[in-house]
Amino acid sequence: MKILIVDDEPELREIVAFILESRFGAEALEAPSGRLALEVIQANPDLGCVISDYNMPDGNGGELFRYLRKNHPDLPFLLCSTFQPKDCPEFQDEVPAFTVPKPFTTSQLLQAIQTATRIEAVDPNAKPATFCRVRTSALQKTNFLTCDVYLKLSDSKYVKVMHAGDPFTEADGERYHLKKIDVLYMRLRDCDTFLDRFSKEILSLSHAKQSLPGPAAMVVTQSSIEVVHELTHHLGFTPQVQELTKASVELSIRCISEDATLSRFLERLTAHPDSYITSHSSALAYVSCGVASLMSWNSEATRHKLALASFIHDLSLENDKMALDADLHGMGRFVEIYGAEAFETFVKHPEEAAKYAQQMREMPPDVDIILTQHHEQPDGTGFPYRQNYRRMSPLSSVFIVAHDLVNCSYGETPLDLKTFLERTERRYSVGHFKKIHAALKASLMAPVSV
Ligand SMILES: [Fe+2]
Ligand SMILES: [Fe+2]
Repeated sequence: MKILIVDDEPELREIVAFILESRFGAEALEAPSGRLALEVIQANPDLGCVISDYNMPDGNGGELFRYLRKNHPDLPFLLCSTFQPKDCPEFQDEVPAFTVPKPFTTSQLLQAIQTATRIEAVDPNAKPATFCRVRTSALQKTNFLTCDVYLKLSDSKYVKVMHAGDPFTEADGERYHLKKIDVLYMRLRDCDTFLDRFSKEILSLSHAKQSLPGPAAMVVTQSSIEVVHELTHHLGFTPQVQELTKASVELSIRCISEDATLSRFLERLTAHPDSYITSHSSALAYVSCGVASLMSWNSEATRHKLALASFIHDLSLENDKMALDADLHGMGRFVEIYGAEAFETFVKHPEEAAKYAQQMREMPPDVDIILTQHHEQPDGTGFPYRQNYRRMSPLSSVFIVAHDLVNCSYGETPLDLKTFLERTERRYSVGHFKKIHAALKASLMAPVSV
């Protein structure tokens, strides 16, 4: 069955198209406005259903509904909107029979499509061997694959081309596109996990887009993070403080996106030991995104995660001297200098940070993992879990290296990337760390601009 999705948000069309293709075996057609939807409807007399948003430039969902009632009265129309039909002038005479509120959960949408089309959704667990289509553009938005991905050779033959956990970058999308491959396949049983992740990424991105402020200046990043820390220590991480955190993170992403060149961030780094916690957190947002760019992990979603993690990774800490001392000199003499109680608190701060993140609405996936792992080490000598490089996610690894790099500017000798790389060659010789180290080294030869 062909189903038309009418929505001016391309990401939303992509989510709905994935559900239609994976769970209903339907062919998804798309239109970004009511006017363009008419062209698709006229060109496809065998359409089985129209799923439409209400508020769109160039022909809204109400006008489209009226047209369909008059010209195609038997074609089911499913309204998917933040608007209540009773508040829309076009629905005063007749309300659409099928509606689903926005934002919707997957099960709400599945149920609404089933009711409107009378097609049963496929149960992903009932046919574990079945494969479903996934567009490469959708894979790109999840950044790291949630499951193995296959290329279809024939109806019965699929070959695995990428593994769960692999990054899927813009370059990967481009590589497939050049081979005229815009669709890959995943096992049907994996589609719910993918969808969950995909929806979270999209929601966090659209939230970031909606709240983007006017021209932002890098200088305000540190002052806004100071306010976030100050308020958290006095009021707790309340919903208002969370909103402020999000707005501050968005400010930094805006600055970062304008010029994500690591070498330029490093040039601008100045150490403020007296305000170590907030100053290194703000610097870390820029440097971690700069390092990720060298790895070609420069999607907006990745930057959002790294910047958010930078802002809250040391949020529970209050003593600048103690934090700086621990970060620069390690935990060897911590108990002797600051006492056992302070040691306990310090060792727990990565988990505290993860708890802050878990309190946030629309928290992008992975951020809590980065926070929990931010003091782990590739050789398993870090804390709190002594996890080694095998357990570290790619973004955690970027974050740990970037944190290390930022800390160099607080050391006795000024920051020097070449010396940093020589000093850390052994430490970062495994797993994702090795690739990050190699990318940093390559940037010394030819600085990368993105
Ligand atoms: Fe830190
Ligand atoms: Fe920390």
